[in-house]
Amino acid sequence: MTAQTRLLSTSLTTGDSSNPEIVGGHGVWFELADGREVIDASDTAAPLGHCHPEIIEAIRRAATAPVLNEGWRWAERDEAAGDVVREAFAGEDWVGAVRFFISASEANDAVLALCQALTGRAALATRERAYHGGAGLARELTVQPQWHGGLSSPPGVAAPPRLATVHQLPAPRGARVTGQADPTTQPDWMPEAKAKLADSAAVLLDYSQGGIYHTPSYQDQVAALARDTGTYWIADETVTGFGRVGGWFQFQHGQSRPDFVTLGKCLSAGGAAAGAIVLSQDVLDRLRGTSWQSYSTYRSHPVAMAAIRAHLQISSRDHIYERARDLDGYMFRRMSEVASGHPSVSRVDGRGLHWTVELHGPDWREWRCEETEPLASRVVARALEAGVLIATSGEQTSLFLAPPLIVSEDELGKIFEALHHGLELADQELNTYVH
Ligand SMILES: Cc1ncc(COP(=O)(O)O)c(C=O)c1O
Repeated sequence: MTAQTRLLSTSLTTGDSSNPEIVGGHGVWFELADGREVIDASDTAAPLGHCHPEIIEAIRRAATAPVLNEGWRWAERDEAAGDVVREAFAGEDWVGAVRFFISASEANDAVLALCQALTGRAALATRERAYHGGAGLARELTVQPQWHGGLSSPPGVAAPPRLATVHQLPAPRGARVTGQADPTTQPDWMPEAKAKLADSAAVLLDYSQGGIYHTPSYQDQVAALARDTGTYWIADETVTGFGRVGGWFQFQHGQSRPDFVTLGKCLSAGGAAAGAIVLSQDVLDRLRGTSWQSYSTYRSHPVAMAAIRAHLQISSRDHIYERARDLDGYMFRRMSEVASGHPSVSRVDGRGLHWTVELHGPDWREWRCEETEPLASRVVARALEAGVLIATSGEQTSLFLAPPLIVSEDELGKIFEALHHGLELADQELNTYVH
């Protein structure tokens, strides 16, 4: 860990070459300190792109609000909750209420603690390779080994002690493009999963992390096990919510409905730090007569409320939340070309406007700090030469694409050109990894 300025570095795997200095943005474009403009294909929190004029205007107006803590009544908080339910959860009549948080990490931590209190059970469950945030119980359910909150160095890892027993369920890790089989299509995983859930307060499922994209049947099977075992089911839609995969939410592709949905990232269209928990009416009834002992000063800040409301209005009006569905076929076709054109590519899967490309190379679990810059970061640096910023997830052989939902087909074409350019580097290094 080095500090060239007084700012402590927060980047996990990116070196300087893949982490340019950004000085501005507009639409899908980042403006860089060296004068270039590059497409941002890496941003899970910018559904409307950068510096959307209506988001800026909403924030400007909200800046006149007094200093408020979470406990004060402020009408726009009620209105923002009403907008979330009316716009994004239209037709979901099981929804009861919304509570706002500062981040999705915080929302996940709070909902998991609430489920522990409601059930009297301590253990929690998620699926393999999940990422749910970096704070409290959310971090415990982030079972990707790079994100434990401790220290990594060449000799080893100093991870903090665990805060909770965490059960991992098998993941539906098939791949639409490269055709890997989904191990959860056969029911033999279910008895063991049921035993784990019987011991758990909640099961938290996200729909994209670790390059794992859920099938509706997987969701429905886990939901049924959760119902049978009296375990709460939480859909973590931090990445997939608000149109990333086409339609408002990924859970809507299944028959089952969760007890809670957690939100973040796109929620406020990048205009302010915001997360949320959406609770079912059943849970709300269960909470009647109780007081939820949780508080934080800046939750539901007026600027966040204004950004959320403006985002929902724009997304509904301009049908932004639907765009990824229309682009899914195009993305599938272009990703198939990526898979067949590059021997370095081992797995490709995705939905709508979120896609993961995994590379042959060192095992994703084994990355340690200060070894050479990981392969994925070097591919990102090369794609950047071609004018596009692609993302890595902190795993050394995994890349993902998540451009703003306003991206045009022409801009997507440029993204694929740059991805091909970047992957040439991985192709050249392939002999180092595959024998
Ligand atoms: C599925 C999922 N849940 C929760 C989080 C945590 O979000 P935040 O970092 O905004 O707290 C993330 C962040 O990447 C995520 O991908």
